[in-house]
Amino acid sequence: MNTIIIKSKDDVLSEEDLKEAADILKCGGLVAFPTETVYGLGADGLNPKASIKIYEAKGRPSDNPLIIHIASLSQMDVIARDIPDEAYKLARVFWPGPLTIILNKKEIVPTETTGGLDTVAIRLPASKIARDLIEASGGYIAAPSANTSGRPSPTSARHVIEDLSGKIDMIIDGGKSTLGLESTIIDLSSSIPTILRPGSITKSMLENVIGQVEYDGVVLQRDMGEDMVPKAPGMKYRHYAPEGSLAIYEGSTEKVTKAINDKAKELINAGKSVGIIATEETKHFYKYGIIKVIGSRSDEDSIAAGLYGVLRDFDDIHVEYIFSESFEGDDLGQAIMNRLLKAAGYNLILVE
Ligand code: TXA
Ligand code: MG
Repeated sequence: MNTIIIKSKDDVLSEEDLKEAADILKCGGLVAFPTETVYGLGADGLNPKASIKIYEAKGRPSDNPLIIHIASLSQMDVIARDIPDEAYKLARVFWPGPLTIILNKKEIVPTETTGGLDTVAIRLPASKIARDLIEASGGYIAAPSANTSGRPSPTSARHVIEDLSGKIDMIIDGGKSTLGLESTIIDLSSSIPTILRPGSITKSMLENVIGQVEYDGVVLQRDMGEDMVPKAPGMKYRHYAPEGSLAIYEGSTEKVTKAINDKAKELINAGKSVGIIATEETKHFYKYGIIKVIGSRSDEDSIAAGLYGVLRDFDDIHVEYIFSESFEGDDLGQAIMNRLLKAAGYNLILVE
């Protein structure tokens, strides 16, 4: 398949490009588009045949449900039933934005889109291109992250091209994703609001609007040992995995940088290739291997935005071992560590 690639200017598409993309979606085709979190691979979420194409293009297990993206709040009522007040409250505060809400689904939503579940995940993204496209195509766009299943999510069109060129109809290049981590997912389909995936909308931000919110057990998981079944099916797969073996070192800066230097030296002497995920603040401390800066510790957002790109950069050069510092924190830090720990297969080394 020939994949059409179009570029947006200043976060808008020309009228012709928008129409071409919307027509592809209306006819059951696949279009990758930018959102403020990561790039999405879109298809008509109410058309079972179109949804199935997403699974094929990504190599995604068919029990892993898709998020339906909408362009206006009123669309939530069309696809969800038994909607609790909390959903409207959260939607009014955080939409458009990086929050996905899980509700009981209406019949109109095919189970091909929801991985066989009776619930549906809904998000109204902030990105203008995304909203224009959703609206122009009729409104209900199923879109997982636009990566091959198991690879880090794409935060630039280049990442999407690497994974999906030749497999989908169109890729819209809208530059770098501003947030870089997927949306927060909150489940409102059962009695206690539960965070299934942490993101930039944090637990305390949600609690300020609707009161007590819980984490699904797997969100805070720190090792493989605990045998937990996540409520978001996608959270059980080994996601975001780089090619090289990734280890995270946690402790004081002094001890972490020394431990990583020691290990990197040992491996390089043994003929192995090594990559190090450093920060602006610590990059000067490392002496061995290929050092990449993920962002600055004084700006947590920059770390979130840089994570997937750094993992992909190391894949591109096929390093065998990757070492990363740890990025603990109460809010966004939760989301960053959730992704990093999964990428590392929970290989966390404490050096204190
Ligand atoms: O930021 C985002 O959310 C991006 C952009 C493109 O919007 N999308 C995204 O989709 O991350 P995806 O498919 O990569 O991740 C969706 C997650 C999966 O872990 C899936 O299992 C979970 O949401 N999910 C979807 N529907 C669900 C449902 N009905 N119940 C529980 N989990 C659900
Ligand atoms: Mg994904």
